[in-house]
Amino acid sequence: MADARDHWENVYTTKAETEVSWYQPRSDRSLAHVTAAAGPADPIIDIGGGASTLVDDLLLRCFVDVTVLDVAEAALSKSKARLGARAGEVRWIVADITQWQPDRRYKVWHDRAVFHFLTGDAQQTAYVAALTAGTMPGATVVMATFALDGPEKCSGLAVQRYSPQTLAARLGPAFELVDAGAESHHTPWGAEQKFSYAVFRRRG
Ligand SMILES: C[S@@+](CC[C@H](N)C(=O)[O-])C[C@H]1O[C@@H](n2cnc3c(N)ncnc32)[C@H](O)[C@@H]1O
Repeated sequence: MADARDHWENVYTTKAETEVSWYQPRSDRSLAHVTAAAGPADPIIDIGGGASTLVDDLLLRCFVDVTVLDVAEAALSKSKARLGARAGEVRWIVADITQWQPDRRYKVWHDRAVFHFLTGDAQQTAYVAALTAGTMPGATVVMATFALDGPEKCSGLAVQRYSPQTLAARLGPAFELVDAGAESHHTPWGAEQKFSYAVFRRRG
């Protein structure tokens, strides 16, 4: 996955946070799902969090056990710089999710626009293995992917598009689909991108 790392390091070193298609000033929908599923002491992880401000909003709401993982160190550096002294309150992990072995279990696993880049069966299976190892029984999994009628590419890379139901089938029976919705994201240059949001409960 050196290619993926190089790709994303290059993106985050050559573009400002506000110049990428997935930029949101606030990740309102993700924030609502995460805060509905957990209390401030619960462990939360944002997979492929990039430079997202979700972590800022969780800290503002007094969440004290927040981890952000990304394959690109440059992405996490942007978030750390933005947060300043508060960056020390967050656990930062530079890792490829398809190779990462969690050392603890999280109450909430959040992923916006990351899983859909894994277009191969082996990569997807490795992600589901990390998800299974890294979540508590009863944990909530919040995932946003491009919808079936969403873009075929993001950041120049091919993606796998999902409905909440096809994503549920891919994650397998250990994850029960408990909520689903559509979101229309608008890029900083005004293009519409259709996302699927799916919320799962880990069965046991
Ligand atoms: C489209 S961006 C979304 C960023 C963030 N979730 C958001 O909503 O703003 C995809 C992110 O996933 C990260 N990423 C891509 N492939 C990854 C992988 N295999 N493991 C970990 N992170 C990955 C990228 O570095 C990038 O930050």
